[in-house]
Amino acid sequence: MIYLDNAATSFPKPEAVYRMLDHYLREVGANPGRSGHRRAVEAERLIGEARRALASLLGVSDPDRIIFGHNATDGLNIALKGFLRPGDHVVTSDLEHNSITRPLTGLEKKGWITVSRIASRAGFIEPAEVRSALGPQTRLVAVTHGSNVFGTIQPIGEIAEVAHAGGARILVDAAQTAGVAPLDIEAMGLDMVAFTGHKSLLGPMGTGGLALLPGVDPEPWREGGTGTDSSNPLHPRNYPAKLEGGTPNAAGIAALAEGARYVARRTPEAVRRHEVSLAALLRELVAGDERFTLHGGGDPSRELGIVSFTVRGYSPNEFAAALDEAYDIAVRPGLHCAPGAHRSLGTWPDGTVRVSTGPFTTEEEIRDAVRAMREIAAAAA
Ligand SMILES: Cc1ncc(COP(=O)(O)O)c(C=O)c1O
Repeated sequence: MIYLDNAATSFPKPEAVYRMLDHYLREVGANPGRSGHRRAVEAERLIGEARRALASLLGVSDPDRIIFGHNATDGLNIALKGFLRPGDHVVTSDLEHNSITRPLTGLEKKGWITVSRIASRAGFIEPAEVRSALGPQTRLVAVTHGSNVFGTIQPIGEIAEVAHAGGARILVDAAQTAGVAPLDIEAMGLDMVAFTGHKSLLGPMGTGGLALLPGVDPEPWREGGTGTDSSNPLHPRNYPAKLEGGTPNAAGIAALAEGARYVARRTPEAVRRHEVSLAALLRELVAGDERFTLHGGGDPSRELGIVSFTVRGYSPNEFAAALDEAYDIAVRPGLHCAPGAHRSLGTWPDGTVRVSTGPFTTEEEIRDAVRAMREIAAAAA
């Protein structure tokens, strides 16, 4: 099997992630913060360590400002629904994943907020375009850090400066970049950053959340049990409990810490360079073959290990199915939950075939995959 769908979720995970999941489920097992027995204390300790590992990797000095939730979608919803108030204006882009687009469109349709969607150019959001979309009511700029379709890394520090100069905060969707691109949240002044655990942080699915700068204070969107202050009919105001109602995915979070430690040891930039070099190899091997059209890409210093392409004679779905069925090669076809990016690319409505490399992808796998791609392309009617 050749797994080239790491932008959907990374696979395989580092061994330590599997070991921690097994250890937690068999030997810890308890609900963190809910009881005083030794296993509950150990569960709480592991979650505290996970917060510290994530805070250190992402450049956050107070680990309590790392909020754990289900995934990036959850982190984005906590931010958007907890931060925005009626009458706010939001600036976003056409590159966004549905996890930003849908909550914003939902709030817009209810008449609570207004939204400006700026057009990207060749996969990049221009800070100047953000500046011209700001208005007196703009309270938030909500944009992706890494496009899951083009693989382009956005100039997020500059966009943050522009947002702040206009009196707005920035919410960054780091689903594709946390663990694999330069992300120093405090140094870059990123007010709210949603991350997912199961992609480049190499943890299990059902983990992720939101990192917050001091002074950024969304209202809780999900209220409930926290194991503390139980007689209070209102949700606690202290971090991280304020934004973490309900039993967490404790085994997943403990295992996520192992993924984050693996990435920290190897360094996100080294992982990115590995992934981008293999994506570049794939581009190089199909360049000049006119049956393949490569979309986006071209500047490895500002990219992730993602290659989007279309193939003459095949829909993306047909081509990906052929790779799977005949060669056991996993890639992702379609719109990748980011329809605006495909409109911008000109690949709407069928989308593209997306190959995404990971920290364990090898050169041999890329060469084998390209051989399979050529054989399938040659069989087109
Ligand atoms: C850019 C981007 N944002 C958000 C998400 C949502 O991530 P999750 O499904 O982990 O919530 C994804 C997942 O593919 C993504 O690529």
